[in-house]
Amino acid sequence: MPDRPLLEQIRKAAPLISVGILTADLMSLGPELKLMEKAGVKLLHVDVMDGCFCPMMTVGPPFIKAVKTPLLKDVHLMIEEPLDKVESYVAAGADMITVHVESCRHVHRLLQKLGQMTNANDPNRGILRGIALNPGTPLEVITPLIDELDMVFLLAVNPGWGGQKFIPSTEGRLSRLRQILSEAKKDILVGVDGGITRDNIADVARMNADIIVTGSAVFDGKTPLENTKFMINAVNDASGK
Ligand code: DX5
Ligand code: ZN
Repeated sequence: MPDRPLLEQIRKAAPLISVGILTADLMSLGPELKLMEKAGVKLLHVDVMDGCFCPMMTVGPPFIKAVKTPLLKDVHLMIEEPLDKVESYVAAGADMITVHVESCRHVHRLLQKLGQMTNANDPNRGILRGIALNPGTPLEVITPLIDELDMVFLLAVNPGWGGQKFIPSTEGRLSRLRQILSEAKKDILVGVDGGITRDNIADVARMNADIIVTGSAVFDGKTPLENTKFMINAVNDASGK
């Protein structure tokens, strides 16, 4: 049994898109997710906002629990002080939990705590632990956390809304992050989140991201399935899969 089965599963399949449902039409989400699953989507990105860490409020554990899907639930917590709240997200079925280093006073303790928790969907699966970094946050903050980490997400927009523009300096940050991880000899997945559209998704795949979050570019308009297929094909072509 591998040490981190989910990480190995994603590493083998990477780069993968993680479909962000912030701007989805919730009335038709169920059937759309089934079609996306058939099209090859593996990860579902849920943006949790509390109206404090970022201005908007979105969904919480009951919503995450209510979404019945075999897709892996990639839960991005943009909330103040997640330390005491994280249990309820695990209980709701999060497979991957990412917290913002800026939001949490005891972030190392939080990662340790997550590392001891059991995946509610499958006790053998484990939970992937991620850190998200805002565009203005130095990459070096991950160094003291590196032994407790499975993923680092670089925000390519400031957290708060879907549909913002990709910040170009993300590319340089991504390559420096890769360097930090390889110098530390750590197998950690790298994600990019925010502003990823049909026009730039191939570029982001070429930047060597393992997980590529794409939200409004999939759900805005009337053709989420077609958008999804476009995104998967673009990523596969760009990465030579
Ligand atoms: C930003 C969120 C992102 C964002 C993605 O606060 O973390 O996940 O909603 O949406 P798009 O793809 O529309 O930028
Ligand atoms: Zn997100």
